[in-house]
Amino acid sequence: MIKHKKQVMFVEGGTPLSGTVSSSGAKNATLPILAACILTNGSFSLTNIPNLADIHVMVSMLNELGVGATFTNNTVHINNTSQLHHTAPYHLVTAMRASFFVAGPLLAKTGHACVPLPGGCAIGTRPIDIHLDGFKKLGATIHIDHGNVSLSANTLRAANIHLAYPSVGATENILMAACLAEGTSYISNAAQEPEVTDLCYFLNKAGAKISGINSSCLTIEGVRSLKGLDYNIIPDRIEIGTLMLATLMTKGSIHIKNVVEKHLSSLITVLKQMGAAIKLKQDSLFIEYKNPLTSNNIETHPFPGFPTDMQAQMMALFSVINGTSSITETVFENRFQQAQELKRMGAEIRILKDHAIIQGIEQLSSAEVKMSDLRAGAALVNAALVAKGTSTLFNLYHLQRGYECYWEKLNALGAKIRVN
Ligand code: UD1
Repeated sequence: MIKHKKQVMFVEGGTPLSGTVSSSGAKNATLPILAACILTNGSFSLTNIPNLADIHVMVSMLNELGVGATFTNNTVHINNTSQLHHTAPYHLVTAMRASFFVAGPLLAKTGHACVPLPGGCAIGTRPIDIHLDGFKKLGATIHIDHGNVSLSANTLRAANIHLAYPSVGATENILMAACLAEGTSYISNAAQEPEVTDLCYFLNKAGAKISGINSSCLTIEGVRSLKGLDYNIIPDRIEIGTLMLATLMTKGSIHIKNVVEKHLSSLITVLKQMGAAIKLKQDSLFIEYKNPLTSNNIETHPFPGFPTDMQAQMMALFSVINGTSSITETVFENRFQQAQELKRMGAEIRILKDHAIIQGIEQLSSAEVKMSDLRAGAALVNAALVAKGTSTLFNLYHLQRGYECYWEKLNALGAKIRVN
């Protein structure tokens, strides 16, 4: 079992953020790329890896499967030269859903994969039917019993695979398997998230033949093997977005280094509509609260639409903006859990199924609140930064799953956060 430290966060609200901060590497790009290392042969290093609980789970998973992996100083050294095991341990898959990413690469590399069903989580049931449908089309035999998915195929054969939904995880899993299939596969209605693109670039550098990158139709010409190579992970657009919203909420002004503008275009468009001052220069982003922001309406969608991973933090921002804003969540069915906790801080929010209506108020007030999941946790931290008084935040391990040194970064920008 992965043990979570029982830490509590105390946030004294009221200080505008100011200064310069660097983004970390993207967790959601790192996890599938680590899984893709199963497909490779040799020794190499991945850099700009965030030091996060989820990353350590995937590193442990690789070691359990026979891929040597060590994490030091934001770098993972891979040594994939031994025989692989094809059974993913239950405790690692249940510790993190993204562990299911090993299914496609294991199947392609060894002909077998036995991976426990990942199950749902706080934000939704999160089925894996689209992943399994893709593996089946590539020729895999699938058995599900005793809570495990067993996949096997002597040879994977190329296929035309149309995804019922542009799922990020399914696109990545199927894509990884198709790299070693015989022939040319096509994935249509593929996810186009920057993290999918980063995986494609990594695989192509390793010798895969993927084209159509950055589009909804990927073409994968199967190859016999992939070699290892050094690779630098993209910046975390969700961490950057969360810092941007924290700045606007505290009426501050910050400079974020290591930013890729095109990864953030939908968020930047929405924030500019609301009156935020945002400037980009090379890989730097400058954001400043100049005048009172106006309310807005957003709807989450797959990339390039507004990211569901920024929805909770937007709800916190809308809570302190004059006027009525709304959010429609179309990606996950149960992703408004931050609303209850924001209401404890005085926010005026009404939820109608997948729709939230937020009436902005002058000021939130401090409260004891509980993080229910990663992004909900980030929303609560941002809200606490502007609430009157000192808020107490529980279940910090959710935040630690996805934000590297978040409160240290905020404190360096002037926030008053203490963790015990
Ligand atoms: C990934 C991210 C997660 C992010 C999400 C949306 C990682 C590790 N996780 O999750 O942080 O919130 O993208 O950007 O990168 N679905 C099915 N069947 C499937 C697969 C998905 O019905 O087989 C549904 C899901 O229940 C959900 C929707 O598709 O309603 C989107 O899920 P998906 O894009 O797969 O998200 P994840 O890859 O799980």
